[in-house]
Amino acid sequence: MSEPLIVEATKSSPKTIYLKDYEIPAYLIDEIHLQFDLQEDFTYVTSHMRVRHNRQSRNLSKQLVLNGEELILESIKLDGIDLTPQQYEVSDTYLIVKNVPDNFSLDITVKIFPQKNTALSGLYRSQNTYCTQCEAEGFRRITYFIDQPDILTRFTTTIIADPKQFPYLLSNGNPIGEGFTEERRHWVKWEDPFRKPSYLFALVAGDFDVVSDTFITQSEQEIAIKVYVEKGYADQVSHAIFSLKEAMRWDEKVYGREYDLDIYMIVAIGDFNMGAMENKGLNIFNTKYVLAKPETATDEDYMHITSVVGHEYFHNWSGNRVTCRDWFQLSLKEGLTIFRDQSFSEDLFSPGVIRIQEVRALRETQFSEDAGPLAHPVRPDSYIEINNFYTSTVYNKGAEVHRMLKAIVGPVYFRKGMDLYFARHDGQAVTIEDYIKTMEDVSGIDLNQFRLWYSQAGTPLVTIADDYDTAQQVYTLTINQSCPATPGQSDKEPMLIPIRMSLFDHAGKEILLDTGDDQIEVEKVLKLSKASQSFQFKNVPSRPIPSLLRNFSAPVVLNYPYADEDLLFLFKFDTDPFNRYEAGQKYMLRVMQNLIRDVQQQNALEVPRALIEAMQQLIQENKKDYFLLSEMLTLPSEKYIGEQMQTVDVVAIHQVREYVLKTIAEQLQDQFLATYKMFHKEGQSDFTLEEMGKRQFKNRCLAYLALLPAHAELVMQQFTDALEVNMTDTQAALTALTSMQSPLREQALDQFYDTWKHDALVVDKWLGVQAGTKLPNALQQVKKLTRHPAFDIKNPNKVYALIGTFGYRNAIHFHAENGEGYAFLRDIVHQLDKINPQVAARMVKPLTMWKRYDKDRQVLMRNQLELLLTDKPSSDLYELVTKSLEF
Ligand code: TRP
Ligand code: ZN
Repeated sequence: MSEPLIVEATKSSPKTIYLKDYEIPAYLIDEIHLQFDLQEDFTYVTSHMRVRHNRQSRNLSKQLVLNGEELILESIKLDGIDLTPQQYEVSDTYLIVKNVPDNFSLDITVKIFPQKNTALSGLYRSQNTYCTQCEAEGFRRITYFIDQPDILTRFTTTIIADPKQFPYLLSNGNPIGEGFTEERRHWVKWEDPFRKPSYLFALVAGDFDVVSDTFITQSEQEIAIKVYVEKGYADQVSHAIFSLKEAMRWDEKVYGREYDLDIYMIVAIGDFNMGAMENKGLNIFNTKYVLAKPETATDEDYMHITSVVGHEYFHNWSGNRVTCRDWFQLSLKEGLTIFRDQSFSEDLFSPGVIRIQEVRALRETQFSEDAGPLAHPVRPDSYIEINNFYTSTVYNKGAEVHRMLKAIVGPVYFRKGMDLYFARHDGQAVTIEDYIKTMEDVSGIDLNQFRLWYSQAGTPLVTIADDYDTAQQVYTLTINQSCPATPGQSDKEPMLIPIRMSLFDHAGKEILLDTGDDQIEVEKVLKLSKASQSFQFKNVPSRPIPSLLRNFSAPVVLNYPYADEDLLFLFKFDTDPFNRYEAGQKYMLRVMQNLIRDVQQQNALEVPRALIEAMQQLIQENKKDYFLLSEMLTLPSEKYIGEQMQTVDVVAIHQVREYVLKTIAEQLQDQFLATYKMFHKEGQSDFTLEEMGKRQFKNRCLAYLALLPAHAELVMQQFTDALEVNMTDTQAALTALTSMQSPLREQALDQFYDTWKHDALVVDKWLGVQAGTKLPNALQQVKKLTRHPAFDIKNPNKVYALIGTFGYRNAIHFHAENGEGYAFLRDIVHQLDKINPQVAARMVKPLTMWKRYDKDRQVLMRNQLELLLTDKPSSDLYELVTKSLEF
């Protein structure tokens, strides 16, 4: 056979897809039997499909349109007979079969090139492993198919490969046969008993270490758990397995959901665009969210593993058993599943601390997305490239919507609603509207206004004023809401916003809330539904201090004119851990905002004594919750401070934050040192909340101390002691050292690399730490690292570590006045776009925020964006860049 023509990826010019254009499919595919012949340089994919006209469809065109990209069509038969070239039409994105009957079979063979697939979508090679990623539209890069989630199909998959190189051949469902071909190649056949959309298809072929375990479900079914990792890494899967079993138990207990196959497989892959993928029965994970041992993974990594393992497991019900009708409904599975994994982590660890981390992430990524050129509703109305909509809005704001819904209908109806949703829609591809309808049906509550959370973009602004009537002992909160304009949505309607609140007296005690209804409690959820609304509380003995939006009960910006004393009071007394933390953040933010004004007006800087004292009291607080204390010791990030400003002044923000940090360090040096010594423990780490909390707490103290050159040796000591033992402590020390002007800096970086250069995930940390350095030559170092053997532009984890950290988390250097940071990022994004458009699109985002900066920087950033459009950008990049430039 002659060498194939490689079809160049000349996708037709980007087209916008609209939700309003959705049509039910004209054809359905009931079954597909796939066979993969994995050869050295290419793969043959043969499919046998049963296709029928959809009786519900009014489309009578008799044309079957199949999606397909980068496929070489080898043969096509309808009901067993070869089609002539007149009977079908192939383009670089479609295969159209003309004049088809109502019910027929199709046999198609295509040739594909997994070895050349650097986009990591479809079937690709990662090291010596074949694996797939089909969400959202990767299946069409494997074979011709109606590649959309409302096509639910029964799959069988046969994989044929060389038995020595690929002893494990895996796909969805259960193995139902295996054997050898005449050429001594082996094959395994899998059958998935559940109908599923093509995006949940998966295949893996390779050689692994396999770790096995079992789980007994509440109905006493025994589930085999198998985790497949690169050889030599079997000692790093115990935490993932622990997390999986906890997740299985949790979903049974909290949602009554049981697992439904005999086997649950997880495969860890080093080259992966996202965190992990919930393919039915065969999850594929980025190694980052599976592998961990105390020497190589931080406490933070451990917690991420728990939430991602939980996330993919929970998708089995919220995503797989009940899936999405179309990609506009993406948040139906993602928002709900994030909400479920968040609740799981909150229950497993500590609700307050986890909530603080969730909200911090939400405000740093989603709020800025909502305020920028790429703002979109949780359920978008249109998209060019669906891969661009796996956003923090769809995921994290989507999760907040479920949390609010639970607050509005109450936990009992919420659970009943979930039960009904799973029962009513099991095996279906449904919409967000179907979901809300079940909640309405069980609760009897009209959710019409609540639906706006899905259709209106932008972060609502909630402004609260209060009044205390001493004579009547009545306290009144007057609450106003508004929502800023976003692209395509200039006017917004008032939303239904749950505001959880309490009132404190001046002794720090909660006041009983009497609003005239029958429930008198210390905490209430106010349901704000109008643009302006008042709430009255009776029998309030003296002017109270309100604790508002407790546990962050809605994804809004809250404005209430707290006096400094009130914030410091709540920082000390609030019984809601999130609001306690939040009061401190508000106060610190205010202090830094005042200092930024001082910098801009060239005034002398001074940190208020009250801030230092509050910090001091915190360090000495005799509470067990060290995790919470260490969160409370952390200043709002530069990013968060910037978000509050009309024009982000990167230089002033950086200068002020560093100044405040250093002042705190100088003033509380003795306390930090004493606390550090009290909690520092050499040796391995236990993954318990208390131990993690203590480590985090003392490493916070260390970070403050590291701002004073006198403590360089202490930091180095921790680094050296921990290097081969405890990555949480190693990374904390290395991060501090990397921003210190000290010969110890190079020494530590070299030692770290020498010790861990064989472990890809640890090398990512080494890259990330350097990309985040505060030292002046950061960009030069990052550039140099792109040429280091440790870097590989084809590996997403490496790109995220080095380029992502620099673009997203090193504002002072990325936004250098001369524009070199922007030019560098443009150059990398341009290279990436030819290799992996999804990764390029993720990396370009910092440039798209040009409007937030001063005029000079705006020009520099826009110039780089315009350059990106000149060389045939992918649809992914095209969409983000054009939307940003139009903003
Ligand atoms: N469904 C996956 C999750 O959230 C997301 C995902 C994994 C994904 N890999 C992807 C989305 C590749 C787009 C492209 O669990
Ligand atoms: Zn998900």
